[in-house]
Parts: sequence; structure tokens; C-alpha cells
Amino acid sequence: MNPPTANWWRTAAVYQIYPRSFADASGDGIGDLPGITSRLGALTYLGVDAVWISPFYRSPQVDAGYDVSDYRDVDPLFGTLADFDELVTRCHVLGLKVIIDLVPNHSSDDHPWFQAALAAAAGSAARSRYLFRDGKGTHGDQPPNNWRSIMGGPAWTRITGPDGCPGQWYLHIFDARQPDFDWTSPDVHAEFRSILRFWLDRGVDGFRVDCAHSLVKETGLPDEPEHAIKVLIPGEVGEADAHSPMWGLDGVHEIYREWRRVLDEYSPTRIMVAEATVSPMSRVARFVRSDEMHQAFNFSFLTAPWTATAVRQVIDRSLAANGAVGAPTTWVLSNHDVLRHVSRYGLPADLKVPNGIRVQDVQPDAALGLARGRAATLTMLALPGSAYLYQGEELGLPEHTALDDSLRQAPEWFRSGHLEAGRDGCRVPMPWNAAAPALGFSPTGASWLPHPQSYVGLAWDQQAGVAGSTLEMYRAALALRRSWGLAAGTLDWATDFADTAAEPDVLAFRNNGVLIVSNRGVEALPLPAGRVLLTSGTLDQDGDLPADVTAWIITD
Ligand code: NOJ
Repeated sequence: MNPPTANWWRTAAVYQIYPRSFADASGDGIGDLPGITSRLGALTYLGVDAVWISPFYRSPQVDAGYDVSDYRDVDPLFGTLADFDELVTRCHVLGLKVIIDLVPNHSSDDHPWFQAALAAAAGSAARSRYLFRDGKGTHGDQPPNNWRSIMGGPAWTRITGPDGCPGQWYLHIFDARQPDFDWTSPDVHAEFRSILRFWLDRGVDGFRVDCAHSLVKETGLPDEPEHAIKVLIPGEVGEADAHSPMWGLDGVHEIYREWRRVLDEYSPTRIMVAEATVSPMSRVARFVRSDEMHQAFNFSFLTAPWTATAVRQVIDRSLAANGAVGAPTTWVLSNHDVLRHVSRYGLPADLKVPNGIRVQDVQPDAALGLARGRAATLTMLALPGSAYLYQGEELGLPEHTALDDSLRQAPEWFRSGHLEAGRDGCRVPMPWNAAAPALGFSPTGASWLPHPQSYVGLAWDQQAGVAGSTLEMYRAALALRRSWGLAAGTLDWATDFADTAAEPDVLAFRNNGVLIVSNRGVEALPLPAGRVLLTSGTLDQDGDLPADVTAWIITD
């Protein structure tokens, strides 16, 4: 399936697997690596080129595995290293590349290094691998600075020293159980080079780098200007980012050059993709300069409003900024941290997109969201560059917006004092089989989060082979994207068809001979004569393109 070139990543469609929610082979209600292996056929059916697997390392699971206590082992929840090897082998046999998550900003507080740091004295070598500081005030009982965790609450926690007395404070820009590494420590650098090699030697094709923009903190850890303080939702980062003492500092780039030298020792090509929620796009593009990473998620695209004007602007800026450094653009609409896009597009346009939806909150318009979500997907998959899909979006899965609060696990639910519902609603297990226990997610019917009723009709077996289903639309789009070379093509706005000034609600572009028209307005739109390859919704009886529908056409 993979394009057989060293540059496969430039055009790849990558499928994100969230291990705890993909498929559960053991029957404990939490997905696992053998479960993933057992369902790879669904990915070859879909037609993706690669998988990105979110963390499966040993972890107390405070942040669903983004709190790693052993970077070189599989958590027993998910299986064993042998299960991992089997998964990689199967993927490669099937022609799927394997990208794994790397979490270098912080470890778990259960990590042996952090435990050693707690047991050691202030100023010791063991403490130097994390950011321990004395507190302010006569008794050191005030945090060292004003930094806030983006999951809510202060970014500092005071420890009890080995002598039983209140001791130093340590920095955690996420949960208190996720202490930040100190990237000025040579030990930290050496350790991560070694971790990279450990997994490269096991055959992985690349790494998705978590929080790639936060590893380096400003020297002296100065207070953060109030205006730079931000929230978890990616893309909501303003120009202020450039002035934050912890987000987006240029020092991170030297780390990625160091890692790139390690990756480049391996053949075939191994890649890195940055999760870097910085703006503007020119700052994102710094991560994909030729001696750094290969890809960086385009969160401006993910967070762009529905309107044609907004999306056109993001596309232009992205292609220009990445093009300036010779990199492709990496499109994405959903992941495990944001509202699923069919729900996002179903919210009122003037509502600030929330971090999770509770049953008492404004509910998305499901039909509108699905229509727009499908239309947005057909826009994305026609763009030049690579694209990441999040498990379940190929089924049109909505967010679970009625989860019982007692089931919530995302740390921000607790750290925000229940002000933010958090990300559990986009992490509900996959529905594979409408008639099976737990919709086929687990052989025992156990499921760490329950499915909403709407998932029954959306189960994989209800859509496979069904013309017009979201699954078949994705499948057709991926096949056409490949056969028409869209990911390797060039975008030209079709101003002859839809003049952006006269028709501001239409997105229309050509790519490798295909005309893509996305109707973001309210009126149906006459289409030019030609052969319709694919649409995200039904054309009206005159053959016109209704609102909220995207079409791919070969014009006469
Ligand atoms: C970004 C990850 O995608 C998210 O799930 C996690 O909570 C934070 N980084 C912290 O690792």
C-alpha cells in the first residue's frame, strides 16, 4: 500500500490509533496491542498508508498513557513487547508504516528518575533532570513563579523532602503527576537519543513528538505574562505564544536537529511529526526545516471556522509557509484531544469550541455536523500533502456528549474543578459490530467508556460495503486521492469557476486535473459539466451542489 519511496511521508494518509479505545482482545474493557493487530484488516480495507499509535508504554495512566514511567516497555494493560513486535511485523507485511508516540516534555512521577530525584537532596544530580526550584517567600511556601498548568491549577507542586519536611517545588505544565524534564540536562538528551534507538531498532518508521514546542523553558523561569497564558485546545494559541516562557521557544529546534541525526542513521526513512501548537504558520514551519522534523500537524486547519474565507486563508498560509522550507503540509481535522469534527461543525458558529461537551451543554446539530464533517474531509483529502485521520472519523462518529460525569477520566476534568468536561467524549471505544457485546470492541462486553446509542447504527459492520456510508466515502476518497495523485499535486484556486470575491462562500480548487468544490454557503451551486468522482452528500435533483457538500469532479 505504501508508496515505495523514501518520501512516503510527504503524501501519506496516516490513521491514528488510540490503543485503549481501538480493539480489546483481552476482554478487560481496555483496548490493547493484540486487539490492534486483530483489526488491521479494517485499515487495509480503508486504504491508509500508515498508523500512528498513541502511547502504550508503562504508565500509571493518569493522562491516558501520556505519563510514561518506562519508555522502553509496554504497559501490561496493552500487552507485551512481543505483542508490539508482532504488531509491527503484521503492519509491515500489510504495507503499513508504524509511527509511535514519543513523550519528551515530561515523564510520569512514577518514573525511576523522578523517584530518585525525590529521594535525593536539593541541588543533586538526580534533581537536575527535572525542574526543581526553591519556593518563594520566607518559608519557600510560594511557587517559584506564576506558571499555570494548561490542565488547570498551578504548574508547580511542592514536595515533601526525604527528611519529611516541605521541600522544593517541581514544574509540571500538565498534571502534577507529569513532571517536566529539564532539557538543559545532558542526561535527558542522552536518554532520549537512546529511547529513539530502542524503538528504531525494533523497526518503527517514525515518531509523533508530543508537545514538541514546550521542551525548552526560558532561562531563569520568569513569570509568564498574563496575556500568554493559554488553554489545552490546540490552535487557540495567539501571537502571544512567541513571548511565552514555556511554549514555542526556539531552543527546541536544536533538540530536533540532534534527533534527526539519529533518525538519518537508519534506512529506510524514519520520520518525526511535531505536535506543536504554535502560531503563526511560519513558526510551525520551523519544525519541518530540512534538518529537523518531517511533518507538523496543521492545527490552524483543524480549528478554522467552517467558512470558505477562513479555510482558504489557512490553506494559503500553510502551503506558503511549509513550501518556503520545502515541506509538505500535514492536514488534520480530529484527534484524541479535540471534539470530533462532525460534532465541532455541528455547534453554533458563535460558540467558543469547548473542551468536551456535557449533557447540559449546548448540543451539536448531529445532521449538520455530519454533513459538514464529511464535506470538510473531502476538502482535506483533496489537498496536497499528508493527512492524519483519527480512529472512528471514517465512521462519522460523533463526540459522546452525554457521558456520565462519574465516568470521566481526563485530568483536566478534575484539575479544572469540573469546569471543563475534558476529552473523554472523543475517546469512546470503536463500534465494530452492531449486534455484538460492547459493539464488538471487546469479547466480554466490557468497555472502559460506554458507547452512546448513536454508535450502534454507525458500527463498522453497518457501513462496510454500504454505498454512501461515511466509511465508503473515506475509502473511495483515499483510493481516488491515490489514483489521481492529489497528495503529490499542486493546488490552484479555480477562480474561473468561483471568483473568490463574487462567491466568497465557495471553496473551489484544482489539483492534478480534479476540480474540488466545497459549498460553504447556503444556496445550491450549479456545477460545471463533467464526471463527478465523489461527493460528500447527495446532489440535488438539478445536479446542483447543495450547501455543506463537497464534490470532486473531472470537468469536460
Ligand atoms: C498532548 C497529547 O496529545 C495529550 O493527550 C496530552 O494530554 C498532552 N500532550 C500531555 O502529554
